[in-house]
Amino acid sequence: MRRNDEAAIAEAAALIAEGLPVAVPTETVYGLAADATSGEAVARIYAAKGRPDFNPLIVHVADLAEAERIGKFDASARRIAEALWPGPLTMVLPRQPDCPIASLATAGLDTVAIRVPAHPAMQALLRATGKPLAAPSANASGTISPTRAEHVTKSLGGRIAMIIDDGPTTIGLESTIIAVDAGRVRLLRPGPVPISLLAELAGCAVEAASAGPIEAPGQLASHYAPSRPLRLNATGRREGEWLIGFGDIAGDASLSESGNLTQAAARLFDLLHQADAAPAQSIAIAPVPETGLGEAINDRLRRAAAPR
Ligand code: TXA
Ligand code: MG
Repeated sequence: MRRNDEAAIAEAAALIAEGLPVAVPTETVYGLAADATSGEAVARIYAAKGRPDFNPLIVHVADLAEAERIGKFDASARRIAEALWPGPLTMVLPRQPDCPIASLATAGLDTVAIRVPAHPAMQALLRATGKPLAAPSANASGTISPTRAEHVTKSLGGRIAMIIDDGPTTIGLESTIIAVDAGRVRLLRPGPVPISLLAELAGCAVEAASAGPIEAPGQLASHYAPSRPLRLNATGRREGEWLIGFGDIAGDASLSESGNLTQAAARLFDLLHQADAAPAQSIAIAPVPETGLGEAINDRLRRAAAPR
């Protein structure tokens, strides 16, 4: 684990040039980043995460100009990018004909998921490597996403060459994912960006993703899972439970005592990690309203609670 500074970024860039993955914070969650143009480097990401399948990965780039070398932007995709990048939004777009991204990173699809992250550490790493960086969340496949460097150490420590520590992430939930093609916008994963804002920028409705085989991200029914059973919509604690509260329901710790959804999103994965490490048999969590960011929070909670 290394504190984020110039020397750490230079060292991380050298590791990435050797084809090794490095953990680095973004404003959403910590990512496990490797050179997206190298199939071998991308394969090392899957190996470190123990991913059961070659799910396609998000490709991070420094700016829109870089993104346009990789994916095809129609007018609405460009409008959305100009308004929301850098930030917690990923766009799935058709690949450019000469797209340099390794096919393993896109799981052989003819589309590519692209994001311009805002976090200074990830931005510095992108500039230092001069490469597009494939980066899934830096945790073992199917487990709770990391919002602190310590979460990465617990999940992947010993399996990766370096972790850059820059404290807790500010947003705490993975990026919103939309697919944009031929003037249509479809929501693949709810996240920090309000759907109403996307619709306004696109000038059309945002459609729900069809339940096709690959479309959907983190779309395994069981995902983001703690090692213990998780009970949703708990209005009180049952015996042996560690209760995560929200609003009026206090619990052992609270997502947000004031019922603030932004604060709840930032604390969600951290409290799931805490609950998982506590001396209790199972975890319960208070109801979180399905409005605004609550939609993305409940999406993660349903997957975390799903039968495995
Ligand atoms: O906030 C985030 O998005 C974080 C940070 C590190 O950027 N990354 C992240 O990556 O959450 P990951 O790998 O955990 O989730 C990426 C999701 C996958 O579930 C995958 O199914 C979807 O993006 N995805 C990637 N490429 C796709 C494509 N071409 N078509 C459809 N879905 C795609
Ligand atoms: Mg993930």
